[in-house]
Amino acid sequence: MTGLVVLVVGNGGREHALAWALGRDPEVGAVHIAPGNPGTAQVGTNHPVDPLDGQAVAALARALGAGLVVIGPEAPLVAGVADAVRAAGIPVFGPSAAAARLEGSKAFAKEIMEAAGVPTAAARLCLSMDEVVAALDFFGPPYVVKDDGLAAGKGVIVTDDRDAAIRHAAGCRQVVIEEFLDGPEVSLFAFSDGTHVLPFEPAQDFKRVGDGDTGPNTGGMGAYTPLPWAPPGLVDEVVTTVIQPTVDELRRRGTPFVGLLYAGLALTSRGTRVVEFNARFGDPETQPLLTRLRTPLGRVLLAAATGGLADEPPLEWGSGAAVAVVLAAGGYPDTPRKGDAITGTETGTVFHAGTALDAEGRLVTAGGRVLAAVGTGDTLAEAREAAYATAAGIHFDGGFHRTDIAAKAAEELR
Ligand code: AMP
Ligand code: GLY
Repeated sequence: MTGLVVLVVGNGGREHALAWALGRDPEVGAVHIAPGNPGTAQVGTNHPVDPLDGQAVAALARALGAGLVVIGPEAPLVAGVADAVRAAGIPVFGPSAAAARLEGSKAFAKEIMEAAGVPTAAARLCLSMDEVVAALDFFGPPYVVKDDGLAAGKGVIVTDDRDAAIRHAAGCRQVVIEEFLDGPEVSLFAFSDGTHVLPFEPAQDFKRVGDGDTGPNTGGMGAYTPLPWAPPGLVDEVVTTVIQPTVDELRRRGTPFVGLLYAGLALTSRGTRVVEFNARFGDPETQPLLTRLRTPLGRVLLAAATGGLADEPPLEWGSGAAVAVVLAAGGYPDTPRKGDAITGTETGTVFHAGTALDAEGRLVTAGGRVLAAVGTGDTLAEAREAAYATAAGIHFDGGFHRTDIAAKAAEELR
């Protein structure tokens, strides 16, 4: 597969990291991104194509002679962009719309988990406010209220305030109310070719906007890998009890899952439970994970896209640690400010997300999560220091970041 041409769909930090890692694979000849951002333009060629338009993405892939299309975000997956590209005869890394419902509908995810015997929080789908109130009182506080559809990580609230729980539910079309899961969260990714799976090392994300896990949920404010505190055997356990049964159930239904299955887990006092599934690489976990991955990315993505994972060896990882700190725009996650000039991105490993070039070609903010500063090192403490040193050199008005990403894990290991 010398000279594999890859088209990456999306415009976030995850897509920048994917394009960067693909560019380092000697078997990849060219990396294209649709539409990409100013960061992806440094590691490949951007194309101004609507990522939600399956026909346009398929036409671009054909015009480029792409041998592989990698779809990054959930919205194009749920909209069926993978189906359109697959129908054009081009290998795609990313599930069909039918399989992506695992992320697109929390109620569907619960149905699959029940059918596959996958451990998760007990939950009720509510279609009226009477049902909502009954479910809240059935489970009791802390209340967990989830908008059933896609909400970019912001459709969930966890609160002790019953009135706030009811208000959140009132703003949702369909609501899932569920049992509160205690215990630390782990993000475990696995490649799937529809039948066989290949797990990553685990990572941890920081979902709340503020230090000490305070404030509203966001798309993710930082992440690190590996997790020195994770119990030995966690990955094998999750593959056996969560990942493989889920992939088997979707195949059995005639909607095989081809792409990246993201299990968001809580390690509770009663065992490992699924908090959520995503049908794609997590953001920002992808940035530190791909920084540590040693397996050439193009080859393994193509193997997953073409039913060839059974022949692939386990993924190889660098021995050290990696930490990503998200630099967010003032006002995120509610109303992020835009158009502020950004300086200092030239030093260190920096992945772009909500950035753009203005009319004069200056780099400016253009979204809630603007950049991710990634540091690596032999230990988590060193990786953390490197990430924060890079973050300290970057400036844009109103910008902020959490100061405690990976702090506890780094401290425990000292
Ligand atoms: P989700 O979009 O389902 O991942 O939810 C976003 C975040 O809300 C999760 O990462 C958790 O931090 C929190 N969360 C979701 N479900 C639960 C639950 N059942 N118990 C405790 N926290 C939860
Ligand atoms: N990091 C959480 C997500 O990608 O949804």
